[in-house]
Amino acid sequence: MKPQTPPQTYRVKSFGCQMNVYDGERMGELLAERGIQPAPEGEEADLVILNTCHIREKAAEKVYSDIGRLVKAGEEAGKKPLIAVAGCVAQAEGEEIMARAPAVSIVVGPQAYHRLPEMLDRAVNGERATDTDMPAIAKFDALPARAKRGPSAFLTVQEGCDKFCTYCVVPYTRGAEISRPFSHLVTEAQKLVEAGAKEITLLGQNVNAWEGEDEKGRRTGLGGLIRRLAEIDGLARIRYTTSHPNDMDEDLIAAHGEVAKLMPYLHLPVQSGSDRVLKAMNRQHTADSYLKLIEKFRAVRPDIALSGDFIVGFPGETEAEFADTLKIVDEVRYAACFSFKYSPRPGTPAATMDGQIAPDVMDDRLQRLQQRIGQHQYAFNQASIGKRCEVLVERKGRHPGQWLGKSPWLQSVHFEGDHAIGDLVEVTLAEAGPNSLKGMVAAAVRA
Ligand code: 5AD
Ligand code: SF4
Repeated sequence: MKPQTPPQTYRVKSFGCQMNVYDGERMGELLAERGIQPAPEGEEADLVILNTCHIREKAAEKVYSDIGRLVKAGEEAGKKPLIAVAGCVAQAEGEEIMARAPAVSIVVGPQAYHRLPEMLDRAVNGERATDTDMPAIAKFDALPARAKRGPSAFLTVQEGCDKFCTYCVVPYTRGAEISRPFSHLVTEAQKLVEAGAKEITLLGQNVNAWEGEDEKGRRTGLGGLIRRLAEIDGLARIRYTTSHPNDMDEDLIAAHGEVAKLMPYLHLPVQSGSDRVLKAMNRQHTADSYLKLIEKFRAVRPDIALSGDFIVGFPGETEAEFADTLKIVDEVRYAACFSFKYSPRPGTPAATMDGQIAPDVMDDRLQRLQQRIGQHQYAFNQASIGKRCEVLVERKGRHPGQWLGKSPWLQSVHFEGDHAIGDLVEVTLAEAGPNSLKGMVAAAVRA
């Protein structure tokens, strides 16, 4: 490759989960430290980072078509962007990307992106650079301070997965479970609050597997971390995602009843309602043990909103087993859910299992599941009518004077008045749709 002029603008395109969004922000902060600015809306950037997701579907093909599009857009604009591929596809298929896509200068995995600036120097010199090492915690120590962002911020506290669900690629792309140290997280949370965050969502592939030592040297789990973060002045709300049922401990459950800043919302994927399927997925829990766990949360926090992830069409799934999934949806009465068609991931045990399900069967099951989930979501929203709650203002609405924010139960709420992004506004929930609610402002702003 020919040497290039150093980039002055960048754009990060993040796909997939919130952890990728967090990583994308942090890569941006690294570049900003180097004086590289976000490209203005509508302009081609000098450096484009495709921050990819490998969890489902034809992830790699999508990356190649995105690269092709970038090269074409660059040619039309009369410049050649530097292209970096980051994220989980980079981790899983870095070598192939370098071999197949000559336009790519940098391939960087999710545990190595703190070394992006050096890789960029090499790329500017005309070299191609690949780094898919997994140096565990080193990345976080090497990142710059948090930049100012919106009122709701992400904070990665845990990464990786040791569970090896048979459908999932994450243990291979993100590596083993690691927890960031307690003190680093308290500091980063304080910095986020100083930069304007009112709400922090703690992130991890198995966030509730987080463990560490508190300021007094005592072992503590996520509940202890949440209790400490709740002491930060100016931080109004704490959330966390994604949890695994087997990593729940009593202290975290109790925190939901005791810590006012911990929002009444829990994302706890179950994936299937059938014990046979759960076993084949290597989930290591049953439908019943999951339901018992949900009961414990409801006992300490009766209004808790529950959300989950589901996979339909796992190899061998029968119609009766799918019916068990619909049954668990009815039993839990979720406030929201994510549901997916099973997608065979290369290298995972389920990809070579017998009984792969035909696409039309998967389509049909997904549609029925989503319809059922939608009914419960709508019912949950309707049951919220009349409740008085705080809404964190996140952005302006479509109409003049209209604002959008989130209720404690993570519902989208729109309302009117003289407010600003980051305000906590007390509203009464007045009307409910399937995906959002209308609020009437009830009290003055708690900025
Ligand atoms: N196919 C379909 N969905 C998957 N998920 C993870 N792996 C797969 C796969 N191979 C879903 C699970 C998980 C969510 C993040 O993505 O439901 O909880
Ligand atoms: Fe995608 Fe999973 Fe990687 Fe997130 S962790 S980017 S969802 S493969």
